[in-house]
Amino acid sequence: MAFGKTRLRRLRGSETMRRLVSGTRLSADDLVYPLFVCPGSDVKRPIEAMSGCFHLSADLVGAEASGVASLGIPAVLLFGLPDKKDATGSEAWSPDSAVAVAIKQIKQAVPQLLIITDVCLCAYTDHGHCGVINEGKIDNDATCELLAKMAVAHARAGADIIAPSDMMDGRVGVIREALDSAGFVETAIMAYSAKYASAFYGPFRDAAKSSPAFGDRRTYQMDFGDPRQAMREIALDIEEGADMVMVKPALPYLDIICRAKQRFDVPIAAYNVSGEFMCINAAAEAGYLDGDGAMLESLLSIKRAGADIIITYFAKAAAELLRK
Ligand code: PBG
Repeated sequence: MAFGKTRLRRLRGSETMRRLVSGTRLSADDLVYPLFVCPGSDVKRPIEAMSGCFHLSADLVGAEASGVASLGIPAVLLFGLPDKKDATGSEAWSPDSAVAVAIKQIKQAVPQLLIITDVCLCAYTDHGHCGVINEGKIDNDATCELLAKMAVAHARAGADIIAPSDMMDGRVGVIREALDSAGFVETAIMAYSAKYASAFYGPFRDAAKSSPAFGDRRTYQMDFGDPRQAMREIALDIEEGADMVMVKPALPYLDIICRAKQRFDVPIAAYNVSGEFMCINAAAEAGYLDGDGAMLESLLSIKRAGADIIITYFAKAAAELLRK
């Protein structure tokens, strides 16, 4: 229809009209808030590289989780810091790990809040890689067995959703089988399926103290030039038993989210990672842009691309603004 009859500005004339016709809406229901739990008690230590984020000891995590739930956010994602690291990351599957204790505290404080746990060895190994090393190489299959032990330990403590983020081949199947044989048939799996070897994880590695001591993660995390492997990874994870899949990072990979949404009939999560979070915070703190505006626009773009679930350090701030 040529100009004259068609005037698209009619759809933008007022706030109410814009509200009526908008195709995508962000809600607190879409959000997951990550928390970093550490050993000890009464610890609330600011994470320098990530504005407004803290290392929390398990005894303080219940109160924090109650605050998250009262904002209408349905889930938290737990990352753990160990007391001590070793070659295999053995604290990862300890029944007394900070994550295991935190799960119990949260369930006691807010039973309805969903608990997702990150399952990966990198914060627990002394070399900082996501898998165990054999003769200088990541041993894929040995790593899967350890991840399965970690997943079962989390399920036993009460986790609702297990989220493996290591990018080993076959780990979703091994974890599903281990959960089922331990009797945790109702524990769901959210697979970090399409996880890219990204520079945007920088601030997180400071938070989790998980930088690899040698080499990088490019033998297991995906090359960012290739969208086809992302689709194959997602298809395989679903076949192996993933209930939900994830694309990570989010903003530089909106095309991958969009393709995944068109192709797969499972909930798609997107991880708005630490580097994306700090780009906006740093620019806002320097006065270059309106932080709240950039935050809401970014989160909405992730939803518009097709994400059903957005994992973001902005969750609390966004939920607070969305409530108004
Ligand atoms: C662990 C893991 C990482 C992130 C989530 N789980 C770091 C990495 O893979 O190096 C990154 C999250 C973020 O940057 O916010 N494997």
